[in-house]
Amino acid sequence: MGAMGIVVRACAPPAPAAAAPSGSRDAAQAQRRSKPSRTARVLVLGGTGRVGGSTATALSRLRPDLGILVGGRNREKGESVAAKLGGQSEFVHVDTRDAGMLEQALQGVDLVVHTAGPFQRAEECTVLQAAISTKTPYIDVCDDTDYSWRTKGFHEQAKAAGVPAITTAGIYPGVSNVMAAELVHAARSENGEPERLRFFYYTAGTGGAGPTILATSFLLLGEDVIAYNKGEEIKLKPYSGALNIDFGKGVRKKNVYLLNLPEVKSAFKILGVPTEFLRDRNKVQKLVQSVDPLVRAVDGIAGRACLYESRLGLFKWRILLDYLLIKSYLCKSVGFATAAFALAVLEGNTQPGVWFPEEPEGIPIEARKLLLERASQGTSNFVMNK
Ligand SMILES: NC(=O)c1ccc[n+]([C@@H]2O[C@H](COP(=O)([O-])OP(=O)(O)OC[C@H]3O[C@@H](n4cnc5c(N)ncnc54)[C@H](OP(=O)(O)O)[C@@H]3O)[C@@H](O)[C@H]2O)c1
Repeated sequence: MGAMGIVVRACAPPAPAAAAPSGSRDAAQAQRRSKPSRTARVLVLGGTGRVGGSTATALSRLRPDLGILVGGRNREKGESVAAKLGGQSEFVHVDTRDAGMLEQALQGVDLVVHTAGPFQRAEECTVLQAAISTKTPYIDVCDDTDYSWRTKGFHEQAKAAGVPAITTAGIYPGVSNVMAAELVHAARSENGEPERLRFFYYTAGTGGAGPTILATSFLLLGEDVIAYNKGEEIKLKPYSGALNIDFGKGVRKKNVYLLNLPEVKSAFKILGVPTEFLRDRNKVQKLVQSVDPLVRAVDGIAGRACLYESRLGLFKWRILLDYLLIKSYLCKSVGFATAAFALAVLEGNTQPGVWFPEEPEGIPIEARKLLLERASQGTSNFVMNK
């Protein structure tokens, strides 16, 4: 297999809106695109948090014309975030557990970005339901397998309402799914059939993660890991199956362990390649120590310097063929990654229904390159298929 170079580096300029619909997209989508050119409004729920705040910031950099609404329960924090974003931004008081409040907040909004986690153990998809009832396009940064498939259960309702929605639209899961889809697509277009797909992640310190992400890691310790062996679903113990992976310069070899994250299941179901997800113990070890100031101190030394790396291996006959490398400060990169999905939906690329990032009805194959370029703006090094 030859080199299929997609090498994306920082600083691509903001792209113009996508071209007019091809005719195959449905009426609701065409109507959204032909709306008068008033300022598009994006509501970032959880915008007072790390992921939501960095998404709002990235959106304001990529599209300064957007009206960005910072949604959350804390007025003081929300107004402070909105003030930093500039004139078109404001705080909206909203609690995601209150359906009436949500529907009111979604009036006149062109896209809602749901970052108000944790998604683990959350039984209801209140934000998606409000998005469907108000006909508002939707994305979330969910990183929980059950929750992501629960949102998928609203596919027919979203389709009937003409609402485009993408679940697991952050960096990992999110951009990782799009990269996996690109690698598999590239391999298949050269007549190669991948035998196995593995996602490896390493985070130095906490990667700048907030308490919600740390809590998420803790919750994942209690979940069996779903992986796929020769096409069969298997259950494994969390943090088992150690592999020693070379993350390259600066990080080098690290042990990584199995963890239950949504891209393993969605990539297997959608791309049809057996998948596994492995990450280092670093973040959870720090959590177990449970001394937040210490974690922050470690971040000061390691987190900001070494940052966050992920590597995705596409194996064929047990040979690593392609990989991706992202080095970045997690919070910044997750903001640009989520903003890249937000813009793809706003620009009318997504068909009505609830999609995973690797599904072409969610992010069409021809829109992936632009999404990856935008996402790469939050990274210091972003290489694919080298
Ligand atoms: N897909 C990915 O790539 C990816 C990457 C990283 C993180 N994540 C996920 O992103 C989520 C957010 O992480 P984070 O680090 O940003 O957490 P965080 O800093 O704790 O932010 C969460 C925000 O949600 C708000 N919130 C919580 N419950 C709310 C409610 N009922 N109504 C309205 N707002 C509410 C909180 O604001 P108040 O409490 O002040 O209201 C807070 O500002 C987590 O679930 C994490 O697992 C996904």
